[in-house]
Amino acid sequence: MAISNVAKAKSAHVNMMTDTILNNMEPQGLRIIMRSLLAAHPEITGTLEAETTRYIHDAALPAIAARTSAANGSSPSLGQLQNDLRTVRCMLGCGLVLQSLSLLATLVSQACNLALQSTADDSSDLDRMLAATDGDVVQTMTAIEKTLFTAAGSRKLTEEERASIMQLYQALLDALSKCKASEKEYPFERAVIVTASLLNEQMPVFEPSKALLLQNSDRKQAKETFVLNGRTLPRIFSGLWQLSSPAWGSAPTSKIIAQFSSHVASGFTAFDMADHYGDAEILVGKFLSSYPSRSAIFAATKYCVFHPMKITREAVQNNITERCRRLQVEQIDLLQFHWQFYNDPGYLDAIRFITQDKRVAALGLCNFDTEHMEKTLQQGVKIHSNQVQFSLIDSRPTVRMGKVCETHDVKLLTYGTLCGGFLSEKWLDQPEPSLYDEAVTPSQRKYYGVIRAWGDWTLFQELLRTLKSIATKHSVDVSNVATRWVLDFPYVGAVIVGARMGISEHTNENLASFGWRLDEEDQAAIDSVLGKSRRLEMFEAMGDCGGEYR
Ligand SMILES: NC(=O)c1ccc[n+]([C@@H]2O[C@H](COP(=O)([O-])OP(=O)(O)OC[C@H]3O[C@@H](n4cnc5c(N)ncnc54)[C@H](OP(=O)(O)O)[C@@H]3O)[C@@H](O)[C@H]2O)c1
Repeated sequence: MAISNVAKAKSAHVNMMTDTILNNMEPQGLRIIMRSLLAAHPEITGTLEAETTRYIHDAALPAIAARTSAANGSSPSLGQLQNDLRTVRCMLGCGLVLQSLSLLATLVSQACNLALQSTADDSSDLDRMLAATDGDVVQTMTAIEKTLFTAAGSRKLTEEERASIMQLYQALLDALSKCKASEKEYPFERAVIVTASLLNEQMPVFEPSKALLLQNSDRKQAKETFVLNGRTLPRIFSGLWQLSSPAWGSAPTSKIIAQFSSHVASGFTAFDMADHYGDAEILVGKFLSSYPSRSAIFAATKYCVFHPMKITREAVQNNITERCRRLQVEQIDLLQFHWQFYNDPGYLDAIRFITQDKRVAALGLCNFDTEHMEKTLQQGVKIHSNQVQFSLIDSRPTVRMGKVCETHDVKLLTYGTLCGGFLSEKWLDQPEPSLYDEAVTPSQRKYYGVIRAWGDWTLFQELLRTLKSIATKHSVDVSNVATRWVLDFPYVGAVIVGARMGISEHTNENLASFGWRLDEEDQAAIDSVLGKSRRLEMFEAMGDCGGEYR
């Protein structure tokens, strides 16, 4: 048996028996073990990043270069490109964002060539790889954007940064020309637009998809609505956090836009996004600009301040300008403001500047607790909404927030209501998930922690069984009961249901959350399970709404 030796852990030597494990363990097993190691010893994260950086420079990149020169101009295989994409992701993971751009540019060119040469009837693996590359460029640009934040708002790209991004942009434009010449669908629409946006170049214009035009005419009104700033809105919003990372899966733009269209056709006309949700604003902007009735769609976005900054009118105006530019609108329907540091009262200035800007139709808050929402209200500001986590598992808004919302007519827009999909039939009678399973989404990783804070998997299964019997009684699904429970609170405006656009579709199922209510018997059955949980302790442990982020 291998005996771990902490004293020797810093040396390059790995004990022979340990080496046997490393040589023989299948990759998935190694991943699980690595994650456990990092969870148990977070202090080794820096070492992992440094060693990954070293491996990329010393082994991975030279191997790609050697393969390219040996190939003598012939195209790499799909498997080789998939491998290169994994290297790009590892570079992103250890902070080599700018350094990854050259490889990403080569990858874009080679993947495009492969797609143009492909004659295969079944090209689904290639299509998946192209969509993944598209999504990864979006993530890369988002990562670069984050590095531009400063205490004064944001800075411009340096010459060196601009040149590196330009190289990728040029590869994307070359691929676009080739696809146009061959009359093939361009697979990097999201990538080229988001890259142009970061470079402040004119964004290429793409024709709206046929699916969009076809489904425009038969838009239904949602069966349940509420009024926010004079707008009648569906009580379910479509959440677009899921577009911010390829970890939820990547789909081609045409599929994403087609799914926006089917949401709108079903009456789900409101979308929730943020300044840091990848290219969500840009995609909604593209959809809005080609949709005949702009006023039929409600675009809620966010201005999130996660880093210490000195609030000035100019910085606030710049952020609003950027939101308008990306959404292609003159006025933002709802701007939800997130402020990380309550000990800095700068948020009150920011909110004043937002309300004085005519380009914001309505102000909302995001993850504000009751105390700071009240402080804002005391300034005489009209707050239309606060976006908070609210579900059968996390009912903290019922403790303090709800009452203040009712008094001041602030509507809650709730997330986590389906716990990333755990509150659904799919998880009924299922064993506890392995968080390291590739199918588990970032959203589920987040809410699994919340489920653990609330109770345990056995109690969660008891809740699902209870929801299932209520669902059967009302001829709906488990998810509809979970959504309904939140919708039945009078201060809830809408539940935001996360949508993996182009990857999975639940539009029809979610319609069944409308038009009925839980009766006393249902409430009592749910309460008897919730009574066994730590729901009340959660308020103390996590703090009021948004406390988990601070
Ligand atoms: N302000 C914040 O801090 C914050 C934080 C998180 C989220 N949000 C917002 O809230 C949105 C919601 O995201 P979330 O992460 O909280 O996820 P969520 O809404 O709790 O869960 C979304 C997942 O539930 C599954 N689902 C949806 N409808 C279903 C149905 N009828 N039956 C079965 N499964 C269904 C889908 O999973 P599959 O795709 O796997 O089928 C979907 O991806 C985000 O997009 C974002 O807009 C805000």
